[in-house]
Amino acid sequence: MAQRIDVKDLNVYYGSFLAVEDVQMSIEARSVTAFIGPSGCGKSTFLRTLNRMHEMIRGARVEGTVELNGRDLYSKDIDPVAVRRTIGMVFQRPNPFPTMSIFDNVAAGLRLNGQKDKKVLAETVEKSLRGANLWNEVKDRLNKPGAGLSGGQQQRLCIARAIAVKPQVLLMDEPCSALDPISTMAIEDLVNELKSDYTIVIVTHNMQQAARVSDRTAFFNLAATGKPGKLVEVDDTTKIFSNPTEKATEDYISGRFG
Ligand SMILES: Nc1ncnc2c1ncn2[C@@H]1O[C@H](COP(=O)(O)OP(=O)(O)OP(=O)(O)O)[C@@H](O)[C@H]1O
Ligand SMILES: [Mg+2]
Repeated sequence: MAQRIDVKDLNVYYGSFLAVEDVQMSIEARSVTAFIGPSGCGKSTFLRTLNRMHEMIRGARVEGTVELNGRDLYSKDIDPVAVRRTIGMVFQRPNPFPTMSIFDNVAAGLRLNGQKDKKVLAETVEKSLRGANLWNEVKDRLNKPGAGLSGGQQQRLCIARAIAVKPQVLLMDEPCSALDPISTMAIEDLVNELKSDYTIVIVTHNMQQAARVSDRTAFFNLAATGKPGKLVEVDDTTKIFSNPTEKATEDYISGRFG
């Protein structure tokens, strides 16, 4: 089920602004890759190009290719909606469907895929909510709206929603930034578990988290404000955190940045 991603010569634009320049990167199937780097270097922007979410923003476009198991996601015959179904995403800011119930939020993608069996829906919703460490807090109010949850709970709801449809690749943009340490550990455990079946990319500002959960780490940086972000290096996480090739990476991970 898990698939590999190969990014070649990728430039990412907002209108005429080149936000991320010339990325080459391969992401192995069944692995966890962490994206790290200073605020504004383009981590979220690049992440959104991996499932064609970027182009939802007006004027936003890419040059280059993103291949999923060798097929270019940007070729003309590819349906971007199908891409987003295959490559799921958890956003930096939680975005549950506010008026929809907690249950329906998690079931939404399954229903969209045509699942009508009540038992299957209920089982998958429970399993996904357990996976996101939210089940115990919401099991008695599954019919209440998603907007009634706290920020951290909403983030976990979005994680449950994303994993419910079993995407082949899961993109997570700072999924733990609003979470307490216990939920953070639960999400890290979940990521660990999921990687046996999925390909996972996680953006994080937390170095310890990157070191704990990822197999590979990609460090992005930007030379100055207004300049494009660049991939400085991507390597095994142990190498990045013990003996990175680039000085900029060393400076960043050891806190000498800026
Ligand atoms: N919708 C947008 N329209 C125009 N420019 C944007 C848009 N979103 C982001 N940018 C710009 O693209 C650059 C990269 O932003 P991005 O959000 O990808 O950074 P980031 O690395 O995820 O930062 P953070 O760690 O703060 O989340 C920034 O200069 C940002 O201002
Ligand atoms: Mg971001």
